[in-house]
Amino acid sequence: MKSERGLWGSKLGFILAASGSAIGLGNVWRFPYITGENGGAAFVLIYLVFVLLLGLPYMMAEFALGRATQLNPVGAIEKVKPGSKWKYVGLLGIITSIGILSFYGVIAGWTFGYIFKSLFDTGTPASNDFSGFISNPQYEIGLYAIFIIVTAVIVYKGVESGIEKWSKILMPLLLVLFIILIVYANLLPNSSQGIEFYLYPDFSKVGFKTIIAALGQAFFSLSLGLGLMITFGSYIPKSTNIFISALYIVLFDAIVALFAGLIIFPALFALGENPASGPSLVFIVLPKLFSQMPAGNFVGAAFFILLSIAALTSTISLLEVPVSYLVDEKNVSRKKIVWYVAFFVFIVGLPSALSQGTVKFFTNFGWLPSSLTSADFLSQMSFFFGDFLLTFGALLLCIFIGWIWGAKNAGAEIMISGDNFSKFKGTWIFLIKYLLPVIVLVILVSIFKVTGIS
Ligand code: PHE
Repeated sequence: MKSERGLWGSKLGFILAASGSAIGLGNVWRFPYITGENGGAAFVLIYLVFVLLLGLPYMMAEFALGRATQLNPVGAIEKVKPGSKWKYVGLLGIITSIGILSFYGVIAGWTFGYIFKSLFDTGTPASNDFSGFISNPQYEIGLYAIFIIVTAVIVYKGVESGIEKWSKILMPLLLVLFIILIVYANLLPNSSQGIEFYLYPDFSKVGFKTIIAALGQAFFSLSLGLGLMITFGSYIPKSTNIFISALYIVLFDAIVALFAGLIIFPALFALGENPASGPSLVFIVLPKLFSQMPAGNFVGAAFFILLSIAALTSTISLLEVPVSYLVDEKNVSRKKIVWYVAFFVFIVGLPSALSQGTVKFFTNFGWLPSSLTSADFLSQMSFFFGDFLLTFGALLLCIFIGWIWGAKNAGAEIMISGDNFSKFKGTWIFLIKYLLPVIVLVILVSIFKVTGIS
């Protein structure tokens, strides 16, 4: 039942909707802290190479499969290869989106809380201000709950298109604010050290962890690997140029991330903070920056309002993955299932919410080795779902599209109203069939080798 699937805006608004999913906390919160933890510029360069060489062609592949089949990931796979085990790849995407939404919702909750904190707190925030905020269980759980509920209400009502329209106005505003902040941050004394850290690569800092983090971040930031773009693709008319659309989305997404870094790193060095502060980085640096600005309370509140909306367009798309699957394939009612799924996600996310100093066990969780990520439950979830399972899903989907459905079929789908793609088609097929699977496989296998997990 198509009408029950909940539409992401109009078909034409699809670039906007897909950008809404891609642009979010991944760009503004995750990108700077992962860059900070991985030594700066060299990481940024590797990330950008992955975005263009792997992210862009892979996004086109997901769109092509979606548009050709007009179905959700599981349905699309079943249509191409009925009765095969490949459908579990679609299911993997559903599990991964639940995992991602669970920790992402926690950060979105912090963002939401910081709207009020920016507005009402006066003076320069003390260095333990943020850690105090996030180790208060009422705040963490309450704000997290609010964010999940708002996401669920929107998905329940199927009013995503309304939100997309809003974000059309608000996201350019976010960019304007970013530019103001870039200028301001770069005028502070000592800020040039930040630019050096961020833009002059030092390859001696590149280790195995850097490469895996860059790959994971590239896919995470573009919302790839879950089959989400298959679903988006299922709403695109044949007249839309998949190649150009994907190019736009990838560029928007990368620009927002790069801009975020241009604020954070100069500010961070000017304010004497540590780039390797982990998930709390932007919440420590930005409020300090705002507190030095004229009308800083309002600037801060405006910033966190816009960021909350950017996060909301991403959480909506994440919740849509399991919901539209259940509605399409299991024939359950959208209205009921939204609440069940949202509740389930909420429970899964509680340990993440409590992992920033509240509950020792979750704070020092550390199942995954420190050579991969920090010990707290949230960072561990972020690595396991947001880097590992996501990239693994992308690898399997890429093999499915390149080899089972066939890169030629996918290429032909992209060629429909994509004349300018013809010169790149051969390269694209090579990337999808050979280069992407090999690079991703080598990186994933080396995780087990390097860390000794087996
Ligand atoms: N791309 C989103 C962001 O950068 C996060 C996301 C990942 C959303 C995967 C959907 C799917 O914020």
